[in-house]
Amino acid sequence: MQQLQEQIKNMASEYFEDIRTCRRYIHRHPELSFFEKETAAFIQQKLTEYHIPFEANIAGNGIVAIIAGKNPSKKTIALRADIDALPITEANDVVYASSNKGVMHACGHDAHTASLLGAGRILNNLRDAFEGTVKLIFQPAEEKLPGGAKLMIEAGVLNNPNVNAIIAQHVFTPFKVGTVAYCFGTAMASTDELYITIHGKGGHGAYPQDTIDPVMISAQLLVALQQVVSRTVSPFQPAVLSFGKVIADGATNVIPDKAYLEGTFRALDETVRADAHKKIVEIATHIAEAFGARAEVRIEKGYPVLHNDEALTRRSYDRAVAYLGQENVFITTPRMGAEDFAYYSREIPACFYRLGTGNPEKGIVSNIHTPTFDIDEDALKIGMGLMAWHAIGELL
Ligand code: NI
Repeated sequence: MQQLQEQIKNMASEYFEDIRTCRRYIHRHPELSFFEKETAAFIQQKLTEYHIPFEANIAGNGIVAIIAGKNPSKKTIALRADIDALPITEANDVVYASSNKGVMHACGHDAHTASLLGAGRILNNLRDAFEGTVKLIFQPAEEKLPGGAKLMIEAGVLNNPNVNAIIAQHVFTPFKVGTVAYCFGTAMASTDELYITIHGKGGHGAYPQDTIDPVMISAQLLVALQQVVSRTVSPFQPAVLSFGKVIADGATNVIPDKAYLEGTFRALDETVRADAHKKIVEIATHIAEAFGARAEVRIEKGYPVLHNDEALTRRSYDRAVAYLGQENVFITTPRMGAEDFAYYSREIPACFYRLGTGNPEKGIVSNIHTPTFDIDEDALKIGMGLMAWHAIGELL
């Protein structure tokens, strides 16, 4: 075991230059969700170079690579990386800055992908050291509904051979490079998009009695809907409702015909989620009706709650401690962000952990989804080594 760990660490050091080059190439050529053509071509090129067999064009630009150890049918572990980028203009002045204006790897998926290529390269060398099969899942479209994970599962990536457990990592700026963090049980929220239109009756601002004012109604609605969280959800159940878009396009003296709201609802429990959807529709409908208007509510269901399997996460935590030392492995609380990895976690035991990529001394402090996001690339060494170590640990 100790010797295997040394081998993995040595290979991670040896392949670091190669994997950093991969990360920089992918970072320089970011592509939006569902359009990851070049990224997928690059991954295929690297897998070919590493002599790892794969299948491409799954659910669009998805790729699944297979590394068979001894007794390959014994057990299968999947390692997953997402490959898509975001519609953000990069503000970093670095040699590997995005060359695709308006698109940026601002969520670290470049690092996830490069790390998984590295893990694959390591595991392929160690095929004789484990029993079972490792599936590398390069998944498109994490950032956009309905989520590449859902489509990949529908395309059968968890079957043939059947996957027993799945592990993924995500970059995390608040934790310093060299550290990782695990969350036991429920780890990330469900996310749903709310689109509400209040249909009223416009008119002159001086004669409100002749109008049905959708602006006033939407104001009441914004306040009333907060009570879904504060008065209908148990105080012991995390839930959040936020509206980020409110449009009522009248003028100082013009009451418009309608008002339009967009928001997000998140929860850590599927029952809370379903109940809240009903309540949101009820409150919006009735408040609008009370004032003679009509509310049109559309709830677009996003990713489900992400649940980390307790036993798998415990084993992963213990392995990370063995790999990095107790002082570098943390336990975190759930977060209200969402991830389409949640779809895998509904099907099979799953573990989603945080890879520390921040480094205040180097000025690497920007969070994901910002134009100045970056990682300390030393994290790639841990990103590839620890993923390989996890897969092997499950297959000894
Ligand atoms: Ni992400």
